Amino acid sequence: GSGALRDALARQLGISPDQIVVGNGADELITLIALAAFEPDDEIVMPHPSFEPYATGANIAGARTVQSPLAGYETDLGDMRRRVTPRTKAIFLCSPHNPATTIIRRHALLAFLDALGDDSPLVVLDEAYRDFVDDPEYPDGVSLLARYPRLLVLRTFSKIAGLAGLRVGYAIASLETIDRLNRVRAPYNVNRLGQVAALASLDDPEHAARTRTFVLQERAYLSAALERRGIAFAPSQANFMLVRVSDPGRVRDRLLRGGILVRDGAAVGFPGHLRITVGTREINERLLKLLDE
Ligand SMILES: Cc1ncc(COP(=O)(O)O)c(C=O)c1O
Repeated sequence: GSGALRDALARQLGISPDQIVVGNGADELITLIALAAFEPDDEIVMPHPSFEPYATGANIAGARTVQSPLAGYETDLGDMRRRVTPRTKAIFLCSPHNPATTIIRRHALLAFLDALGDDSPLVVLDEAYRDFVDDPEYPDGVSLLARYPRLLVLRTFSKIAGLAGLRVGYAIASLETIDRLNRVRAPYNVNRLGQVAALASLDDPEHAARTRTFVLQERAYLSAALERRGIAFAPSQANFMLVRVSDPGRVRDRLLRGGILVRDGAAVGFPGHLRITVGTREINERLLKLLDE
C-alpha cells in the first residue's frame, strides 16, 4: 500500500521504502503496533499524562499500561527506565510531548536507549510535532534507527502539512518491525486522496518552511507576551502551548465567547491549565486581550 508515498519518503529520509509503513493517521499505527505486538499481561510503559491513544492501544490488546508521571512538564526518563521489567513489551515516548509541549534532548534519549541494552523492548518515539522544534539538542529519530534496531519512529502529515482530516501518518523502523505491522494492516488502509495530498506536501518544502517559520515566530510572540503578564506556561517546542490559569473553566468560557476555542487541560491530564494552539498574530492578540479581561 501507499507505494509512491513510501518511495518519496524513503528518498527524502535516505532509507528503504520497506522500512516505512503508512497509516490512516499516526493514530492507526499506534493501534497496529498494539495489534501486532501486545499480548495480555504485557506491560506498556508510557509517560502520564500523554497522548491518549497509547493507553487505548494497550487496552485494545489487553496489555497493562504502566504510567510514569511527568516531572513537571518534562518526560522523566529515569523514572521510565525504573518501570521497565522483563514483562515490558513496549515503551512510548512523545517528543515534543502532547500535551506538555516539551522535548527529550539527544543526550538523555541516547543514555536511555543505551541503558535498555540489546534486549530492549520496542521503543515508540512519537515525533508528530517535530517540525516545530527549534532546540538544537533535539535528536532526529530516524538517524538513530541504525544504532537502535528496537526503535520505531512515528510521524504525521497532520500537523506541519495541515492534513489532519485526510489522515496520513507513517512509521519508520527496522525491516522486521515494519513486516510485523504490515501483517495486521488492512491492504488499502490509506485513502488515495490522502496519499496524493501527502505527496504534494513533500513536493512543496517552501510551504512547510513557511508554516514552521510562522509557528516559531508566533510561539515566541505569545511566550513573551505571557511572560510579561506573569502567566506561567510550559516551554513549548510544539504548535500549541500549555498555559497555567487559576480558573480554566471560566477562562475557557470567556475565550469561547470571544471566538477562540481552547482545550481545558483537565481533559488531557493537566488540571489548572489550558492547551492553546498558536494562532495568527490577529488571533493571538485577541487571545491576550481576552486573558487580560
Ligand atoms: C502526539 C501525537 N501523536 C500522534 C498524533 C496523531 O496524528 P494523526 O493525525 O496522524 O493520527 C497526534 C495528533 O493529535 C499527536 O498529538
